[in-house]
Amino acid sequence: MAEVVIVPDRASAGDLVATEIAALISRRPDAVLGLATGSTPLPVYEALRARLAGIDVSRVRGFALDEYIGIDPAHPESYASVIAREVVEPLGLTPDLIRTPPADDADLATAGERYDQAIRAAGGVDVQILGIGTDGHIGFNEPGSSFASRTRVKTLTRQTRADNARFFDAIDEVPRHCLTQGLGTILEARHLVLLAFGEGKAEAVAGAVEGPVTAMLPGSAIQLHPHVTVVVDEAAASRLRLADYYRDTFASKPEWQGI
Ligand code: GLP
Repeated sequence: MAEVVIVPDRASAGDLVATEIAALISRRPDAVLGLATGSTPLPVYEALRARLAGIDVSRVRGFALDEYIGIDPAHPESYASVIAREVVEPLGLTPDLIRTPPADDADLATAGERYDQAIRAAGGVDVQILGIGTDGHIGFNEPGSSFASRTRVKTLTRQTRADNARFFDAIDEVPRHCLTQGLGTILEARHLVLLAFGEGKAEAVAGAVEGPVTAMLPGSAIQLHPHVTVVVDEAAASRLRLADYYRDTFASKPEWQGI
């Protein structure tokens, strides 16, 4: 089962995950990071600034989960811009080694397959950071997505467009399509770290961790993976039936084990 860690706040979540990523990069300077956008992973990227001080990150590689189709890659809310602004620049990563799905590619029918090949050629993702949408999506795999899906074009739901409207001037500006890693692609990463904060995510988290494995809640695909860490605050954990068990398990875990 996923290891569930209930933390007091976002900063503690960021510290916990950043410590693990810094240890990975120290061991393996050309580690492959699976990068997520949205507001959830920001505490991880913030904590990494301090944790990576003095560690050579020039060879770190990265693949973003998803990208909007139909906005210029230079648009401030394209995920390429967000990853450059929130991750690559502050952490001093090498821009050429960090990729986002090529949603502006002239041949979108094969762009996803080529992205998956690039991930494979890099040796696969070592640690994949994930947020979760209020409808249970991971990446942009909306409800109904196949667990075998690969990187491909998807249509965003009305709910997701409404949730993401806060990043744009109006909901009509939120793109309708995206190029997203598939659930099958995501499940190939060696370690999945899913973060969620706030009451609004409680239902999606409970469904992903403890609900039936169903395409109607794409986050439940994590139950098929052998190494998953779910890091949540008390509000996002509020609907977990086994919350006390998760607390006991983490409290009695030997420190050397990491997450
Ligand atoms: C976005 C992204 C997801 C993200 C999710 C939650 O649409 N495509 O990767 O996990 O929705 O966003 P947030 O972290 O801002 O709540």
